[in-house]
Amino acid sequence: MTYNFAAQREAWAKPPIGGRSVASGALKGWSDEAIRMWTHQTWPRQYGQPSNFDGGYLKHLGIETTLDKTVMDFGCGFGFDSLGYARGGCKVVLADIRLDNLATARRVLMAHDFMPLESRLVTDQHPFFDDPPEVLDVFHCSGVLHHIPYASDILRRASEVLAPDGEIRLMLYTDHLFRTMTKQEPGGIDDDVSQHPAFERYVRGCDAVGYYADWYTPEKLLKRCAGLFDLAEWHYLRPDRGNAVAILRRA
Ligand SMILES: C[S@@+](CC[C@H](N)C(=O)[O-])C[C@H]1O[C@@H](n2cnc3c(N)ncnc32)[C@H](O)[C@@H]1O
Repeated sequence: MTYNFAAQREAWAKPPIGGRSVASGALKGWSDEAIRMWTHQTWPRQYGQPSNFDGGYLKHLGIETTLDKTVMDFGCGFGFDSLGYARGGCKVVLADIRLDNLATARRVLMAHDFMPLESRLVTDQHPFFDDPPEVLDVFHCSGVLHHIPYASDILRRASEVLAPDGEIRLMLYTDHLFRTMTKQEPGGIDDDVSQHPAFERYVRGCDAVGYYADWYTPEKLLKRCAGLFDLAEWHYLRPDRGNAVAILRRA
């Protein structure tokens, strides 16, 4: 498959937030007060939609109940998950492939009187990001891993920066989402999803932007873990089970 990282980086100028794709750079000139008001209005749309995550997202990822940990929000977008962690006293390292997303997530945190520990610009080459300043308790990666064809390499990199008892928290697209979006069977777990005849339809059905989307089952995720991690939890979200939260711990 061809994965054009530069094109992805361009496209993800508009990450999804509250059910829409919004240019993160648009918040640049806003006051802290305007950011706080917008966050307050957007938060319920991001986390509360009955047809979307219906509360299970925050619950299963433990975003609001994780206290005093060091967390990397890998693919942070607007940084709402980071804000949830920061409210629990967590130290948050922001990470994203776009500088404007990092800058906006930082503004979102700062408007709420939190300061990210540090930010990391992510590339498509190992080591993908510089080491965080502290060993991580949580490598949080929501709505991101399925957009990366070298997912095994990212999981291996996460294992290098995680504490021995640390965990990876993922929100993933599932095989059920592929069926919902394409009305077709997704193929086998070893197949290259980008070769599926319905790949383009699947990608556009999932997101307004971006050029790559994979789907996961517990079995496929474990295969990507290559023996480094065990699957500690798997919870489907949405009525069609199109999204799932997965928690990985060291094998
Ligand atoms: C669907 S958004 C999710 C944003 C946020 N995690 C959330 O749940 O709202 C995907 C995010 O992943 C980032 N991203 C896309 N490809 C990536 C890659 N190869 N490595 C790291 N981050 C990536 C995008 O810039 C974007 O911010």
